[in-house]
Amino acid sequence: MRLSRYFLPVLKETPAEAQIVSHRLMLRAGMIKQASAGIYSWLPLGFKVLRKIENIVHEEQARAGHIPMLMPTLQPADLWRKSGRYDAYGPEMLRVSDRHDREMLYGPTNEEMITDIVANYVTSYKTLPLTLYHVQWKFRDEVRPRFGVMRGREFLMKDGYNFDLTKEDALHAYNRHLVSYLRTYERMGLRAIPMRADSGPIGGDYTHEFLVLADTGESEVFYDSEVTDLTFGDREIDFDDKAQCAAVLEEFTSRYARTDETHDAAAFNALPEERRRTARGIEVGQIFYFGTEYSEKMGAVVQNEDGARVPLHMGSHGIGVSRLLGAIIEASHDDKGIIWPEGVTPFHAGIVNLKQGDAEADAACEALYKAMEAHGMEPLYDDRNERAGGKFASMDLIGLPWRITVGPRGLKNGVVELTSRRSGESEEMPPEAAIEKLVQIYAGHL
Ligand SMILES: Nc1ncnc2c1ncn2[C@@H]1O[C@H](COP(=O)(O)OP(=O)(O)OP(=O)(O)O)[C@@H](O)[C@H]1O
Ligand SMILES: [Mg+2]
Repeated sequence: MRLSRYFLPVLKETPAEAQIVSHRLMLRAGMIKQASAGIYSWLPLGFKVLRKIENIVHEEQARAGHIPMLMPTLQPADLWRKSGRYDAYGPEMLRVSDRHDREMLYGPTNEEMITDIVANYVTSYKTLPLTLYHVQWKFRDEVRPRFGVMRGREFLMKDGYNFDLTKEDALHAYNRHLVSYLRTYERMGLRAIPMRADSGPIGGDYTHEFLVLADTGESEVFYDSEVTDLTFGDREIDFDDKAQCAAVLEEFTSRYARTDETHDAAAFNALPEERRRTARGIEVGQIFYFGTEYSEKMGAVVQNEDGARVPLHMGSHGIGVSRLLGAIIEASHDDKGIIWPEGVTPFHAGIVNLKQGDAEADAACEALYKAMEAHGMEPLYDDRNERAGGKFASMDLIGLPWRITVGPRGLKNGVVELTSRRSGESEEMPPEAAIEKLVQIYAGHL
């Protein structure tokens, strides 16, 4: 992409309405525009990152063997009457009626609809285990939408639902989700800690929330400092292997880590003092096992091997796809702007031409542009006729992790400059070497 042809409406002023850094930076970097409270248009740069995050979610769901589909945003009220949640949900639910006065709602979540689908089509235990998911917009009429996309009213969520014959199988699905979420967040450059949580209106005994530590987080969290040393890395997992998945869950959840809702002061205080941490966190996902409650109410019943009719064991598992943009920025920025982790960056590197119109500089930039594309990378080439200072400031603001700076002086010596956004360090090297280095950096991210 050439900046002269892109749509990147960066703001010079810091928007007054934004209280936290991620919201400010998303507005300033031209990623989102508020349409009304808690509802946003995703401008091209924001949309690009949103899609990258969504793709990682899809790839990791595929790895775990979960099946993508798509359910509508508008749902009939009757489905929710069956589960008893139509009245229970309260003012957070956006209720609408169509021209025939049929009551509808904009889905805040999809347990009812997916259970109804399974109830209609799945009749035998032979179809199990089954985990279906989608990535779809949700609407919750939050009392206080704030912090930009972190607490929106309309937001994008991955929600998945497992259907199993037995509790044991459903707990394996729970573990499988925990394992796949660990990898999902790490690929986005995040450390999201699974913490024992409160099951709230969905009910059930098993639930963990994934929290990214950040001062601006809305949850108060208490944990053993040892949990922040754990990394999942790129270990090979056989997602059908129950013992292996259970062992990962044990490894990541056996130490004390809880939100304020389930905090147990006595258990926490039993830790050595130097390991006790109190902090704030952003909830980027949650997993639940809740048994047969929905399947009983919605009629998701199958014949087991003995021919008996039994309700399915279920769980639901969510990732806050649009909230993740805010969480990533909260975790990775500096005074100058965003610093995207390589896994989610909207463009792989910026190319800054210090002297637009200089034949040699223009040609070198074009060559770098083509070389990046030839290696499957997307460059953002600042080909505008602007001062170098302004170009650097824009690149720093939008946060591409790498920048190649090209100018007539360097080219005389056969070099360009490769700069790391994170460390600020620059290195001069021939253009081919810069490309080679980017190829190495992005290996595994393309
Ligand atoms: N209003 C919102 N705006 C953006 N993302 C949200 C919002 N509400 C929930 N999410 C995301 O969707 C994920 C799954 O939804 P879930 O039903 O667990 O939300 P929740 O527990 O009600 O969230 P919260 O406690 O933050 O209100 C959450 O972990 C969060 O990342
Ligand atoms: Mg939650």
